[in-house]
Amino acid sequence: MERRSFVKYTAAAGASLMLHPFSAFATGNGTKIRLALAGTGVRGIGFWGNALLKAFKDQCEFTGLMDINPGRLAYAKQFMNVTCPTFTNVDEMLRSVKADYIIVTTTDSAHDEIIIKSLKAGFDVITEKPMTTDEIKCRNILQAEKESGKKVTVAFNYRHSVHAMQLKELLAAERVGKITSVDFNWYLNVHHGADYFRRWHGRMDKGGSLWVHKATHHFDLLNWWLNSEPLEVMAYGSLEHYGRNNSFRGTRCRGCEHREKCKFFWDMTGNKHLMNLYAENEQYDGYNRDGCVWANDIDIFDKMSAQILYANGVQVNYSLTTYSPYEGWQIAFNGMKGRMETWEDIPYLQKTPEDQAKRHAIEMSNADDAIPGEYREIIAWDNFAKNYEVYTTPKIRGGHGGGDIRMQRRMFIDKNDNPHHIMAGTRDGAMSILIGIAARKSIREKRPVKITELTDLVPLAKRW
Ligand SMILES: NC(=O)c1ccc[n+]([C@@H]2O[C@H](COP(=O)([O-])OP(=O)(O)OC[C@H]3O[C@@H](n4cnc5c(N)ncnc54)[C@H](O)[C@@H]3O)[C@@H](O)[C@H]2O)c1
Repeated sequence: MERRSFVKYTAAAGASLMLHPFSAFATGNGTKIRLALAGTGVRGIGFWGNALLKAFKDQCEFTGLMDINPGRLAYAKQFMNVTCPTFTNVDEMLRSVKADYIIVTTTDSAHDEIIIKSLKAGFDVITEKPMTTDEIKCRNILQAEKESGKKVTVAFNYRHSVHAMQLKELLAAERVGKITSVDFNWYLNVHHGADYFRRWHGRMDKGGSLWVHKATHHFDLLNWWLNSEPLEVMAYGSLEHYGRNNSFRGTRCRGCEHREKCKFFWDMTGNKHLMNLYAENEQYDGYNRDGCVWANDIDIFDKMSAQILYANGVQVNYSLTTYSPYEGWQIAFNGMKGRMETWEDIPYLQKTPEDQAKRHAIEMSNADDAIPGEYREIIAWDNFAKNYEVYTTPKIRGGHGGGDIRMQRRMFIDKNDNPHHIMAGTRDGAMSILIGIAARKSIREKRPVKITELTDLVPLAKRW
């Protein structure tokens, strides 16, 4: 039996960059978009700094850089090769900078302060995910945006990946009928997963736990794919691998007495960029980029699962694992007429095995080239059908599946290119973090939590 019939790629909007080299956008009309960056860490100066300047140097320029760590700020200016003024105080920057957008790339729990102050000072804002880390800060951002008349864009880059867009198109076309339930599992490996526990992300007060810091991406994708908003969340989670769950611990990997026996020993000294960015500037804030994954004050969850009920009746089963041998995800949409499923980077389902230690660095890179001969596959199987169909999309090597560069292009160049309402605002930012915040509350209070308990937003059955 011929079990598979291949269907060609349909997501024209998502693929368009591959038809045009970057230089096609580098035409410029003399007026550059002015950007001021708050938070000059690895994401700020890499993706929002150098990568953006490389792709869109004729359209964008930096007019200010700000960070509370003066050493990191000085390195950022040098690394980005810019001449704009730098600030260690946000109020000072907002008083003097001329900018079309303030870009917020600080640690997650500091986003709200910068967003709100920027709105009040009359600036539009682009913020990294998660929009913020708790419901009070979320309410304050929503209120400030309303009062200011300015706009916050939330940078949900995963939406813009070619694969995510293909899935969105198939769901919007109801390829397997009305969706009724979803199974969604995300696996972080012992390299990238562990890295969250080395950094500020391991502290609830900095990143709101991976329910918010990481899963905001996944919940936003769900909300967008389903075109609906969450009603209620029941969750479980615990910390039983990292943190206090080990017989020995140090402070940081550099110089650690346990390095020989610790499987999670990570040597950052060979990475010049990370040494310049973090190690050289520890004197200012005491932050260890290579902190111990066994630290006693790690207080986030390392395994998480939730059931989410949507306003349109869809039920979702979601899980996030942080110590898997491989990194990847899989999702299945059960519809009234059939089932659609897809995955990324499950080693035994793809041609070329990933180097698990290097996988995250590749994802964070700015490469946008398709890997020859490799495809993402989406399986659509109609009920009662003997065969299933396979929709294929190119597999993009880096930049979050091609999402990073496509998102920036839509933000700064093709402002009218907004297929399926792909550009996200504060409502989207809120609805994605509120699932994670509700999950935390559900674990704490051992009960299902309604989204309406958290803010005044009333979940919509149909978003658009
Ligand atoms: N969308 C994505 O795929 C993606 C990927 C990586 C990071 N991020 C997000 O980018 C943001 C930055 O992450 P990162 O990995 O660069 O972290 P990082 O630790 O490298 O950088 C954070 C920076 O914020 C600075 N900072 C902290 N509080 C501040 C304040 N009040 N004002 C100004 N600066 C302040 C720190 O000194 C540091 O330089 C986070 O919100 C993270 O969630 C998003």
